[in-house]
Amino acid sequence: MSGDFVQYAYLLSAVLLILGMRNLGSPKTAPRGNLLASLGMAVAVVATLLIQEVVSYWTVFAGMLVGSAIGLLLALRIQMTAMPQMVALLNGFGGAASALVSSAELLRYARDADASLGGIVPLAIALGVLIGGLTFTGSLVAFGKLQELLRGQAVVYPGQRVVNGLLGLLVLCVTAAMVLDPLSLQWFYGVLALALLLGVLLIIPIGGADMPVVIALLNSYSGLAACATGFVLDNAGLVIAGSLVGASGLILTKVMCDAMNRSLGNVLFGAFGAVDATAGSSGGAPDGRTAKGYTPEDAAVIFSNARSCIVVPGYGMAVAQAQHAVRELADLLGSQGIGVKFAIHPVAGRMPGHMNVLLAEADVPYEALVEMDHINPEFPETDVALVIGANDVVNPDARTDQGSPIYGMPILDVDRAQHVFVIKRSMNPGFAGVQNPLFFNENTMMIFGDAKGMVLKIVEAVKALS
Ligand code: TAP
Repeated sequence: MSGDFVQYAYLLSAVLLILGMRNLGSPKTAPRGNLLASLGMAVAVVATLLIQEVVSYWTVFAGMLVGSAIGLLLALRIQMTAMPQMVALLNGFGGAASALVSSAELLRYARDADASLGGIVPLAIALGVLIGGLTFTGSLVAFGKLQELLRGQAVVYPGQRVVNGLLGLLVLCVTAAMVLDPLSLQWFYGVLALALLLGVLLIIPIGGADMPVVIALLNSYSGLAACATGFVLDNAGLVIAGSLVGASGLILTKVMCDAMNRSLGNVLFGAFGAVDATAGSSGGAPDGRTAKGYTPEDAAVIFSNARSCIVVPGYGMAVAQAQHAVRELADLLGSQGIGVKFAIHPVAGRMPGHMNVLLAEADVPYEALVEMDHINPEFPETDVALVIGANDVVNPDARTDQGSPIYGMPILDVDRAQHVFVIKRSMNPGFAGVQNPLFFNENTMMIFGDAKGMVLKIVEAVKALS
């Protein structure tokens, strides 16, 4: 097959991938974006299959069959709430694939007595092994933490930064030696072992609410590893796709850091989850105030006098799968002349866009979804803020308490609304493990129970009153 044809196919694939990502920027065009990006991937895969070099088609198809079957099974069985773990695993496998391919190429050269490695290839192999290896073990640790197989909180020990710093230095030296003398395999084994160790050591001090940022960063790493492997194989498609993943992962990491008002350095080395995050989670406010429990009927009475409502969904809405019930309530309130909007916090739930996806599934119109910066000025003018299974993203301590682990994270200012209803099952804290003073405010009314059940009861109560 002509090399030119394959290169043109890669170019087409790159254009389709970029257009796909462009379209993913808005919920309306996202389905088209998915389609274009999938098409781009298909073009790249078919073009690559046309260059038959190493293994037979049968081996390739057998691999694709097994991989597709496992992927299909996982995709069908995965709960929406477990998506971050799934993404962590996928990143890890991507990293492992890059490290394996780079290693295989090196070993192939090393077996050939006449081989010499030149140009950018030794550097690309070293980076493929290094970044791929640390992405693999780092992602496995992230998966273990999110799946609660490992302790979710940050693991810290005295001198940790010094140990990691020295290890980083050692990695740099051994990698440089590998680049300069690639066919002496002891350097390769050194880089591989250090990369696997570094992945574990870099991720264990990160915990709590910082995990999603780490997943986005590991996603970026997996792209960079693929990009390096593209240089090893002289495969333009892999270089382009890898750099797109690397760049978009970095952009997502930055967006998430901004949403939590943290620097990347602070996320990576700040050991967020190691603080005594459960302090104050016993159910009472430190100043002796207690939260007040109300019923769905009380909520219906308040709604009967309201003109405006902002719904604030959070992780609990996802757990309870309450999005359809929430839509029903929003429609009902709307039919009674109450203006209903949805406030979307960028890190509400457990993955980027979590709330948007759920509300779109329930056919809530996109126009009703308002982002944090735009909705915050509206809270003081709003009659009712209805918080459904959200906690950290509405915690006023983030604004005021410098000692709080989430201090500085931008939040939705629900406490400034006239009345606040919070639906959750208990006084338990959210993801960050900190208690929320909002629940003890004079204007806050707690409705304890499962989000879906409680929202449906409010719907009944509102209907009964009208
Ligand atoms: P959280 O702060 O985690 O609070 C969720 C609340 O939902 C909990 O307090 C829980 O209280 C309640 N809940 C759970 N199941 C429920 C159910 N069936 N019915 C009613 N309530 C239920 O959620 P959030 O406010 O959405 O904030 C997200 C947090 O996760 C942030 O700290 C963020 O940094 C972090 N995070 C975000 C992401 C992304 S990218 N979105 C990814 C990972 C982590 P009860 O147990 O009392 O019911």
